[in-house]
Amino acid sequence: MLNINEIRKQFPVLDQQVYDKPLVYLDNAATTQKPLCVIERERDYYLHENCNIHRGVHYLSQKATEAYEHARQTVADFIHAKESKEIIFTRGTTESLNLLATAFERLFINSLDRFVPRDDAKRQSEMKVLVTAMEHHSNLVPWQQMVLRHQGQLLVVPMDDMGVLDMEQYEKLLQEGPNVVSIAHISNVLGTINPIKQMIAMAHQYGIPVVIDGAQSMAHHPIDVQDLDCDFFVFSGHKMYAPMGIGGLYGKAEWLEKLPPYQFGGEMVDMVSFEKTTFNVLPFKFEAGTPNVGAALGLETAIQFLQSLDRKEVEAHENQLLQSAIQQLSEIDGIRFIGEAEQRSGLVSFIIEGIHPYDFGTIIDKMGVAVRTGHHCAEPVMTRFGIPGTVRASFALYNTLEEVDVFVKAVRRAAMMLR
Ligand SMILES: Cc1ncc(COP(=O)(O)O)c(C=O)c1O
Repeated sequence: MLNINEIRKQFPVLDQQVYDKPLVYLDNAATTQKPLCVIERERDYYLHENCNIHRGVHYLSQKATEAYEHARQTVADFIHAKESKEIIFTRGTTESLNLLATAFERLFINSLDRFVPRDDAKRQSEMKVLVTAMEHHSNLVPWQQMVLRHQGQLLVVPMDDMGVLDMEQYEKLLQEGPNVVSIAHISNVLGTINPIKQMIAMAHQYGIPVVIDGAQSMAHHPIDVQDLDCDFFVFSGHKMYAPMGIGGLYGKAEWLEKLPPYQFGGEMVDMVSFEKTTFNVLPFKFEAGTPNVGAALGLETAIQFLQSLDRKEVEAHENQLLQSAIQQLSEIDGIRFIGEAEQRSGLVSFIIEGIHPYDFGTIIDKMGVAVRTGHHCAEPVMTRFGIPGTVRASFALYNTLEEVDVFVKAVRRAAMMLR
């Protein structure tokens, strides 16, 4: 059984008062808190191991290099990648997606230059990327800007009023021949868990590579990239109990070999002269410059922390928090849930008739409850539902049912005050 009280001892930040009220932290989809073991790992690195990696022959540099590469292996094992070279460390989901958009753009331009006969150039040069109507801006703007630069098209899979993707439309859009499909595993606004395994298989029938934005799933559900058969999977450490400034990109080796580099500089090169440069092997080809070694070690420790728990119990606990919140909130007059998919993960988004979400957030903050309000970096989702924003409570494994009660009570009081 998960012992939440014991787990909470690992998170001293939770044990504080704000405005003389015990803090109830329900903004975990934005970032999770970090357990002591993660904080201590990063501190320990700076106390005893700090060194630039891969370059030094001296003891400390080799020790730091080994630790960093060990962390890469730990990430690979955690998501069941075939090889550690399929893991690229980045600053997080946003950087991983920008890396992919840039690399795909370069691949696209190169293949046009080389392979497309002149008279066919117009048809083939129409670059298309398929995303869904529920993407975070990070999985929308990089692709959108890329297709705009080539007079291409962004194809968008619509969703219904419950926040469920329209799979018939998805199939139709696949037939339009996108170059890449990039979809969220779990929506950060609606909590919808998309049927990614099925969506990946469908895209593969048309020979289209698939990127999965796993920002909201890594901390909450076991991931097996080989079983999913996704071509790429991206994530942020800070949303899974690891430090900020570290995250990753998984890519099938054959795809990473094919894609041109993203950033240029030290470490990612093989031979450099004034005339030309050849590039390093995977994974270094995509890791230009000095990486955030301390944070990578913190990420490894966060993974070990998650592995020390029964993940099924974690899922069940977070689901219990969600169900309790939904059930209690649904008794409040005028509440409208945004996102009511059957398959959903630990967050709840809502508005209450006649009350601006921002006012709500400000008032319940004074009651010690931290939730997020606004468009959650997903403006098209707000447009789709015709709302300015939502109030979003998102749960992590250290939250308790008592905290859910405090949150719902705060929502009730705020609704009474603001009506
Ligand atoms: C679904 C999703 N994708 C991408 C991101 C961007 O993550 P980051 O800001 O860590 O790069 C987020 C962050 O909230 C997210 O929820």
